[in-house]
Amino acid sequence: MSRVGWCAVTATTRQKILITGASSGLGEGMARRFAAEGRALALCARRLDRLEALATELRPAAAQVATAHLDVTDTDSVPGVFGALADELGGLDRVIVNAGLGKGAPVGTGNAAANIETVQTNLVGALAQIEAALEIFRAQDRGHLVLISSMSAIRGLPRAQAAYSASKAGLSALGQGLQAEFADSPITVSVLLPGYIETDINRGVRTAMMSDTETGVNAMVSAIEKESSWAPVPRWPWVPIAAALRNLPDAITRRMV
Ligand SMILES: NC(=O)c1ccc[n+]([C@@H]2O[C@H](COP(=O)([O-])OP(=O)(O)OC[C@H]3O[C@@H](n4cnc5c(N)ncnc54)[C@H](OP(=O)(O)O)[C@@H]3O)[C@@H](O)[C@H]2O)c1
Repeated sequence: MSRVGWCAVTATTRQKILITGASSGLGEGMARRFAAEGRALALCARRLDRLEALATELRPAAAQVATAHLDVTDTDSVPGVFGALADELGGLDRVIVNAGLGKGAPVGTGNAAANIETVQTNLVGALAQIEAALEIFRAQDRGHLVLISSMSAIRGLPRAQAAYSASKAGLSALGQGLQAEFADSPITVSVLLPGYIETDINRGVRTAMMSDTETGVNAMVSAIEKESSWAPVPRWPWVPIAAALRNLPDAITRRMV
């Protein structure tokens, strides 16, 4: 066992971690946390300048930081980018499918493009990432796949959240199916369901349930390291809200967005 900083690193630690959507918010926050523990990181997003600046900041602590431009809606490009990053790091122990968009508009109001882009990014783009990650994991016969879904996956939400919540419900269902498929195998699948955590995606949203970014990222990293199969994050207040959301009448959920 070696020690990196104050954190013990064992042979079973997921050392080589790919994170998509690492140029801001939760992806950037998770990259900072894993870098501080001396892990090797592969970071991707469209804003390469932000990734490069982050990589420069993280390199002194991290074992390695590789970066790549990735637009997850360009689904044909995803396997090539993941493959090149895996080669650079010498394999991947964990892939965090985090890139996401919350750009929806009420359905049928002439803003179909925003809703379609949301689904293409959060569901179709996520599927492309899952395909690419599992191809690598199947070849290695091991790996931890982490899907960043949302609390809005639990219950279809109205208005501007409708397409977003449908995209995340699809992602959660994919994760659940893969958990059944890879049960008792060296491939593990985790589905995280963040509640409101302060980032660019919800800038301007006013709610008493908003966590600050650090609290949210810490809760996510903790659930990821435990390799939880299904985790509302942060646990408070989102574990009880997740339970309630399934059963609340529409009259109440209508007022939540
Ligand atoms: N914050 C919350 O309250 C909350 C709640 C539930 C779920 N989530 C989920 O958490 C994940 C991270 O979101 P966040 O809160 O950190 O928001 P954010 O700060 O807006 O980050 C979103 C990230 O996704 C990347 N991205 C968006 N479209 C992309 C594309 N087409 N190709 C590649 N990367 C793309 C962005 O990078 P580029 O623009 O540089 O490409 C950015 O790094 C998302 O999946 C979101 O749905 C967040």
